[in-house]
Amino acid sequence: MTPENQAISGQVSANKTVSWLDQEWPWWPLLPLYPYGQRRTLVRELIPNQIWSFEQLQGLYYVAVPVRLTVVKVPGGLMLFNPLPPTPELRRALADLEATHGNVVTIVLPTASGLEHKLSLPAMARAFPQAEVWVCPGQWSFPISLPSSWLGIPARRTKVLQEDGFPHPDSCTWLPLGPLDLGLGRFEEVACFHRASGAVLVTDALVGIEAEPPALFDLDPTPLLFHARDRGDQPLEDSPQARRRGWARVVLFATYLKPGPLVIPPLLEVLRNAFRPGTLSPKAHFGLFPFAWQPGWEAAAQERLGKNGPLLQIAPVLERLVFPRAKDVLLEWLDEMRRLKGMRWLVSAHFSDIVAFKPHHVRDLSESISRRPWAINQASWSFLGSVDQRLLNLGVVPKDPQAAFKD
Ligand SMILES: [Fe+2]
Repeated sequence: MTPENQAISGQVSANKTVSWLDQEWPWWPLLPLYPYGQRRTLVRELIPNQIWSFEQLQGLYYVAVPVRLTVVKVPGGLMLFNPLPPTPELRRALADLEATHGNVVTIVLPTASGLEHKLSLPAMARAFPQAEVWVCPGQWSFPISLPSSWLGIPARRTKVLQEDGFPHPDSCTWLPLGPLDLGLGRFEEVACFHRASGAVLVTDALVGIEAEPPALFDLDPTPLLFHARDRGDQPLEDSPQARRRGWARVVLFATYLKPGPLVIPPLLEVLRNAFRPGTLSPKAHFGLFPFAWQPGWEAAAQERLGKNGPLLQIAPVLERLVFPRAKDVLLEWLDEMRRLKGMRWLVSAHFSDIVAFKPHHVRDLSESISRRPWAINQASWSFLGSVDQRLLNLGVVPKDPQAAFKD
């Protein structure tokens, strides 16, 4: 977090004394991600009396990153942007905000494709039966396409962004990104510029990532310590250096899926280092550690991590799998954003909670996207590139992702 950010971001609750029942999320088998049925929520006020961040961890095989619900003060109450599992702990923190700022009046699911944001919408809608629900156009389910009402989205009080207008037009400006045809479904997300706070809210399209691990790991740094090691027979040891090292590797996994400087060792080697004294616990996965980091991993991580605060970026997984043939769509969206009067902050659904985001930041990002080679296949990008190429060859992904939506 930058010093600029620290001045406005206050931690509302560390939630260290809640019971496990308060953090229970019974619907976790729908998307079985770490930490499964137990979701701690970290609440922070990002902009006083205007914007709050509710964070939970979510990930696969300890590759856990923060996923965020943003709560916004709007006329008449509160708007929830990007739903999260409404555990008792989360609902209590929201009730505290409602007591001061008014009831939750709007719930927005601003993405068509982000499963991790979609799955908790039905539970969140049930938790606030009076709230109006708005969803991004083009909702889809995989492997079978089901109607929204079958997915538990309440039809009676649900509207579709853009098709039915937008919520709170007097205080928010809405900026759709997409749609793009991904073959199996579509990518689209709708950003929200909240004029009173100067904050632009997004889902997955833009993120800020910093070298310091997120505060959400303070209470349980296990995922970081697990990945900080080089072999499965090494015990999990805690230190600030180990946490930073583990975080840098988690960021590489989360942004590239399989980064270049990572080798998956042969099974026999993995088993040879497993089940050794000091690692015989579920926390250490009994010493099973199917990763061998190669020289150069630190340099690869530095490209994604901001040194003195969050580094604003489009995550490689989006660049290479969603926008490889649609750079212009992204640039047009950024251009629209740059013209917003009074924009100061970015709040996205992953990684850093608040990032300085003034017109010159957007201009710099656009120039860098225009100038540098886009959606490459080299080094850390090779796995993402090979996935894209395979999907293209199989005809799953269309060559022109906009063709299906042209008149
Ligand atoms: Fe996401």
